[in-house]
Amino acid sequence: MTTTHVTPADTDLPHWETPPEDLPAAIREVKSAIRARIEASGRSVAEVFAVVEARVAERVAEIRAARERGEDVWPVIDYADIEQGTVTPEQLAALRRRGCLVVRGHFPREQALAWNAGIVDYVEGNAFFESYRGPGDDFFGSVGSKPEIYPVYWSPAQMEARQSERMATVQSLLNAQWTHESDGVQWFDPDRDSLYPDRIRRRPPGADSNGLGAHCDPGTLDLWMTQGYQQAFRHLFDGSVEQYDPWDAAHRTSGPQYPGTTMCSAFRTFQGWTALSDMDHDQGVLHTVPIPEAMAYLMLRPLLDDVPDDDMCGVTTNQVFPASERWHPLLLEALSGIPDVRAGDSVWWHCDMIHSVAPVTDQQGWGNVMYIPAAPWCERNERYAASVREAFLTGSSPSDFPEEDYERSWPDRFAPEQLNETGRRGLGLD
Ligand SMILES: [Fe+2]
Repeated sequence: MTTTHVTPADTDLPHWETPPEDLPAAIREVKSAIRARIEASGRSVAEVFAVVEARVAERVAEIRAARERGEDVWPVIDYADIEQGTVTPEQLAALRRRGCLVVRGHFPREQALAWNAGIVDYVEGNAFFESYRGPGDDFFGSVGSKPEIYPVYWSPAQMEARQSERMATVQSLLNAQWTHESDGVQWFDPDRDSLYPDRIRRRPPGADSNGLGAHCDPGTLDLWMTQGYQQAFRHLFDGSVEQYDPWDAAHRTSGPQYPGTTMCSAFRTFQGWTALSDMDHDQGVLHTVPIPEAMAYLMLRPLLDDVPDDDMCGVTTNQVFPASERWHPLLLEALSGIPDVRAGDSVWWHCDMIHSVAPVTDQQGWGNVMYIPAAPWCERNERYAASVREAFLTGSSPSDFPEEDYERSWPDRFAPEQLNETGRRGLGLD
């Protein structure tokens, strides 16, 4: 860790801690201020962007070459190695280089299949399909009578996985890839997770799905417009782009996020899911642009001259942050899918990385996952944990999600007395 650290001066950039009323005006104002700040370093925006582009282009070429050689782009680590502490330095280097990981055998296959069956019993026993009222949000909304994304948060299966020793072990390893302490501040605790409750997906055999377009999740215009993010991305906005480190948690774990249907109140080091069925790599699976530094590209691209002054390459509030052929063709060349996974494997990707879900027709086999990220304990997650606790105790939908509240009257949801120590710490009960 560095011992000398320059505290960023109170940023002189204009900032809006809640969404500005006049978005185009605010975009113009912040873009012109960031440009001026970069230029004060003695380099032009185009020069700074060229540095980022070259760095990313090198990775894109490397990923394309790996694919052409028929190699897996996604690093794979066996859970047994994580548990025994025998992960090699090369494996860790690959994880940090690609920003994503498949954990093989994270849970025994039989355990995952039992959880899968348990979820079926849980939703069917509580007549979920009879009472299902349709998609509660406009992002994962799907047509048809049965959803693919189930707004179910508190099944025994989900909670057992969230509070399991195996989950905590993997989350600690992932969190440890980040610099979580600097400048005398512990930005988060890598060994305590906040059990961020999310939904499950069950996509049946024969399903047709359009997938999800390439996007990223850390925020929208708040990434340029709030003081916390302006500090987190200080090296992108002041011309010292060589020092930008996608694994630096400084100033990322307290700030607000602009509200919206795609908002995540928690800070996640990695997004992730645990497979509850086997899935082949060509059956509509997750893809990422496995380049953590691509965030620098996404953040600086709107500052170039060919983007209209009131446009952030299509990023706006209340909509997911798009990665597009129009503005980011270089990045999309690196889009790489997961390898075949089996029930009990888990899949992880750096919270800033672009991801998509491939379309599929007549899917072979099930495509079932529990979304469980790594959301380590920090100021921001502690704040959100208060509302998670409340939702857990009442069986309500967590406040980041639509208020569907299906599970309130379900008697067999996971009960407070079933929490272990990890679960109690994660919910802030101890
Ligand atoms: Fe996403």
